[in-house]
Amino acid sequence: MSFVSSLLAQMTLKEKIGQMSQFNNDDDEKLENSVKNDDVGSVINEVNIDVINELQRLATQESRLGIPLLIGRDVIHGFNTIFPIPLGQAATWSPELVETCANIAAIESSNSGINWTFAPMIDISRDPRWGRIAESLGEDPYLCSVLGSAMVNGFQGENLSDKNSIAACAKHFAGYGASESGRDYNTTNIPENEFRNVYLPPFKALADAGVSTFMASFSDLNGVPVTGNSWLLNDVLREEWKYPGPVVSDWGSIPQLVTHGFCVDEESAAFEACQAGVDIEMASDTYAKNLPLLIKNNKVSLEQIDTMVNRILLLKFDLGLFDTPFTESTLLEEKLNSNHLNVAKQVATKSCVLLKNSKQTLPLSKAKISSLAVIGPLADDGYEQLGTWVFDAKPSQSITCLNAIKKHVGDSVDVSFSKGLETSRSINQEGFNDARQIALSADVALMILGEEAILSGEAHCRSNIDLPGCQEQLINAIYETGTPIVLVIMAGRPITLEKVLPKVDAVLFAWHPGTMGGPAITELLFGETCPSGKLPVTFPRNVGQIPLYYSQKNTGRPASDATFVDINDIKVRAPQTSLGMTCAHLDTHFSPLFPFGFGLSYTQFEYKNIKVNKHLVNIGENVEITVTISNVGNFDSEEVVQLYIRDLVGSVTRPVKELKGFQRVYLPAGQSEKIVFTVHTDELAFYNRQMKLKTEAGLFNVWIGSNSDTELKTEFEVVIQQD
Ligand code: BGC
Repeated sequence: MSFVSSLLAQMTLKEKIGQMSQFNNDDDEKLENSVKNDDVGSVINEVNIDVINELQRLATQESRLGIPLLIGRDVIHGFNTIFPIPLGQAATWSPELVETCANIAAIESSNSGINWTFAPMIDISRDPRWGRIAESLGEDPYLCSVLGSAMVNGFQGENLSDKNSIAACAKHFAGYGASESGRDYNTTNIPENEFRNVYLPPFKALADAGVSTFMASFSDLNGVPVTGNSWLLNDVLREEWKYPGPVVSDWGSIPQLVTHGFCVDEESAAFEACQAGVDIEMASDTYAKNLPLLIKNNKVSLEQIDTMVNRILLLKFDLGLFDTPFTESTLLEEKLNSNHLNVAKQVATKSCVLLKNSKQTLPLSKAKISSLAVIGPLADDGYEQLGTWVFDAKPSQSITCLNAIKKHVGDSVDVSFSKGLETSRSINQEGFNDARQIALSADVALMILGEEAILSGEAHCRSNIDLPGCQEQLINAIYETGTPIVLVIMAGRPITLEKVLPKVDAVLFAWHPGTMGGPAITELLFGETCPSGKLPVTFPRNVGQIPLYYSQKNTGRPASDATFVDINDIKVRAPQTSLGMTCAHLDTHFSPLFPFGFGLSYTQFEYKNIKVNKHLVNIGENVEITVTISNVGNFDSEEVVQLYIRDLVGSVTRPVKELKGFQRVYLPAGQSEKIVFTVHTDELAFYNRQMKLKTEAGLFNVWIGSNSDTELKTEFEVVIQQD
């Protein structure tokens, strides 16, 4: 008999239900008693190492069977050292860096006794109004799968029982990002085919990558809230995918089955969640209160409880907690590790996306400017630059843009500063005058605007995603001075910038860049490094375009420049059929403001000679696609080379483009390189009408370029081999 089976065999029902209960630590004494009495198997939100060690002592030495605790925390984008928000990390398109960030977060958090993070969040996010887009890896299933798996590897390391490894959690399973109108916790209605082709692939990828836990979403999925959705949690996750680990509920999501109108009371909620296979209840006590009766009345079987508890005990065993429940801290508390800071700078640098750079305004040159006006509420705010989901870092350890710029330019450039607005939301324009004055006497106005941290993240959704408050008016005021404007935006989501763009000369989108945001942005602005971030999400022109994503379907009447009619060009009483009759709005262009994958550099890359190694590709074979990329500008730089395909005809209609590969390459100025992508026909499979994953024969277009709007294309045909 294995260690875990023999332990399980000794447990009482009360002890088993205790393992299924996770407590939020809001009362030390209550928690300590619960641990001693075997009423709790995991704890959320305790980060004090002494308290955690004492809880582990009580669990292992004073409870009847000595079972250690899972200690969970939302370690989302760093612990003490804060990296860019996940959406910003996704803009690096670098699985290696994303993995390193997660690894550092694991090192720092495990040093406090944490052994489980509720990350990565891999909800496909196509609605920038939704505040949680900040925590996501963007809109694309492929990018999200690759980067999400990298995060899992970073958190979990080679071996879960290593001192610096923590268990990861694939969340929020599934479809949460499709909340109607981008309002958090809202209903989702996703047809099964789209669900399988778009929303599930990242979760499948993480299950395959060995993620230790899954979290059931709060949301209502096609009428059945996920926390009680046996089809999703049992049939798909456990039966189809063979995922062996535990599923945790989201915060209070079991009692919320009553609020959804899915269950009549908490007893029924406990029953439904248990049937669906939710093993651990987060923060509420519906299981503790109702499972004993449900078992007594034979509604829930003891075998079922044993299966669930077995998964939890196995996780504890894999984490090595039975051998080493205690933590000895090896990191200094007051000082951040310099290697961690270097990585934070590097990731922030590669996450910044250059959206505009007219007249080569950037990079700034210390030799060419003598004065710089730094303006904006986010220029010198170590707290706001950290972004959402930051509990365990000290904002005083952040380096702001203003500080980094002053340090960088020394005495060579005269740097003046004015906030202009008190916060990103302010509507009080009293500070405009001061800002205008410093801009008037400067060579360049550097405006650092955007969203405060609190405007994105859980339950922080916006119906309007323009720059909040009076920031557009502040830009207008500075624009009137005639001084060139470089705009840096820190935000947790795409911002609608159509009105602002003509007023500014350059735009660098920095997301919430984390602890080292200041130095990273400064080095980019002054050309020490070249921007290389690429958008992991489409930037719309206005909210009316949402949802807007690159991998849309073609429709029967796709919009085109040839047929597009602007509202201002419509003649009075024009006959109905005189318009383009295509899939477009009259009052905005059908294209996005910036497409998925977009990002400029200080240099220019030229793509040519796209080729396939064979035109006919048998199902089961690889096809190689090559391209030559040349750095024809003056800066050494990295570029993210992107490969897109289109399956021209499918038994279920296919998107107009789908990302199937990418490579971040370094190319010095003047050099060329041949880039090779290998795609197996399995990677062209999609769920068909029978919900079977199949590659269909037929013609495929393939593009390689620097964003999803690339034109350089060739084709190949997938054929079924005749024997
Ligand atoms: C969120 C989860 C998070 C949990 C614990 C919930 O409100 O939806 O993503 O992990 O709280 O803090």
